[in-house]
Amino acid sequence: MRRIYIETYGCQMNVSDSELMLGVLGREGYVRTDDPVEADVLLVNTCAVRDHAEQRVLGRMGELKRYKRPGDVLGVVGCMAQRLGPKLLERVPQVDLVIGPDGYRGLPELIARAREGERAADVAFQGWEHYEDVPPVRDNPISAFVTVQRGCDYRCTFCVVPMTRGPERSRKLADVAGEVGRLAETGTTEVTLLGQTVNSYHDGEHDFADLLRAVGAVDGIRRLRFTSPYPTDFTPRVLDAMATTPAVCEYVHLPVQSGSSRTLRRMLRRYDRERYVDVVAALRAAVPGVALSTDIIVGFPGETEADFQETLSLVEQVAFDDAYTFKYSVREGTPAVRIKDHVPEELKTARIGRLIELVRRIARRKNIGLVGTTHEVLVEGPAKRGALLQARTRTNKIALLEGPAAWIGTYRRVRLTGTTGSTFTAWPIEELAACPSPT
Ligand code: SAH
Ligand code: F3S
Repeated sequence: MRRIYIETYGCQMNVSDSELMLGVLGREGYVRTDDPVEADVLLVNTCAVRDHAEQRVLGRMGELKRYKRPGDVLGVVGCMAQRLGPKLLERVPQVDLVIGPDGYRGLPELIARAREGERAADVAFQGWEHYEDVPPVRDNPISAFVTVQRGCDYRCTFCVVPMTRGPERSRKLADVAGEVGRLAETGTTEVTLLGQTVNSYHDGEHDFADLLRAVGAVDGIRRLRFTSPYPTDFTPRVLDAMATTPAVCEYVHLPVQSGSSRTLRRMLRRYDRERYVDVVAALRAAVPGVALSTDIIVGFPGETEADFQETLSLVEQVAFDDAYTFKYSVREGTPAVRIKDHVPEELKTARIGRLIELVRRIARRKNIGLVGTTHEVLVEGPAKRGALLQARTRTNKIALLEGPAAWIGTYRRVRLTGTTGSTFTAWPIEELAACPSPT
């Protein structure tokens, strides 16, 4: 029996891609191992969005190569593999193969060639590739990521993703609905639809509104999530589908990047501050109680103190439930590299510190206000620390509660009893029936 070890960095789509790679290799008789010592093939699925992510992978490669016995194969796959291609083979002599996000069906062949001593890179884009025939190997039986769109056609000036994931393409609605139907039959009750601009989904016939309705109608699917949407792709049709599809959860991750219209323009985002705020209002009207999180970049080239102040004031104005904050990272080959006035590192560090402080303060204020309210939660598993169980509300808040392991995978009503400012403790009230329409 051959064993495959795979380590995944970056976004949820990478998690989903790793499940596809396990599927590709599963068909060849490989089984997964969580121990690199016993692996015959070691893969690192990488992220290229920021330099920091790439440096971490390079550091980790230095460690992983120690597990490589004669005959073993070490591969780098994913966005950093796509970006650096054959250069990675030069840079890390122990690496045998390099494959970008569209090349995973070639894994068995490149592994075989590596065993013959040939080191190879495949970084060709395949604009048709959806791995439709590959059965993903998932390890979470309750909740599944389902990629519905690959690539990105938007051209945000800071972003490497269009260069690493290639042109945007959507799976056929019937294929997605079929996959979700099979997941539901085996007990999965929550799905998260994935795409770089997921709500721009269009399969030539159906848009994202159709997709939400089709997936939401699958018997057994109680929670439907999606990430990440693009602000201006919330058409009235999509908003209406969200409002009228009970499974769609009251949580949206809505990347804003900056609160300054001047910066947004230079990022080539397709909205200004006012438009973003309008989208937030439309979401709040369509989905009462919707929780919102966002992505924010500080220190984009040319960002002034006044621009940054506008980001702070937008965070206040929208009052996000959470925000992922990043210091701008120069990505070779992207348009922003050529913009003048790069912000010094110390200033980025100071700004991100101020931003995080504000984000936490607002989240804390909102979360304290939720203590005492009742929610439906899905019990996901044991808590990371201690003996409690970890559960999640439809609004994506994490709540820890006491209960038996048998509760894992069930839906329960709980009362939130306390908060650290970001996560909650909860008191279980009652179990909820397996799958009527959510309340
Ligand atoms: N549309 C994608 C975005 C992928 S990148 C999605 O599905 O979310 C994820 C986030 O990384 C972006 O929203 C942005 O905030 C951040 N990011 C992208 N490029 C960056 C860069 N060069 N420097 C810093 N942060 C970046
Ligand atoms: Fe990147 Fe903008 Fe696409 S952030 S993934 S280019 S929408």
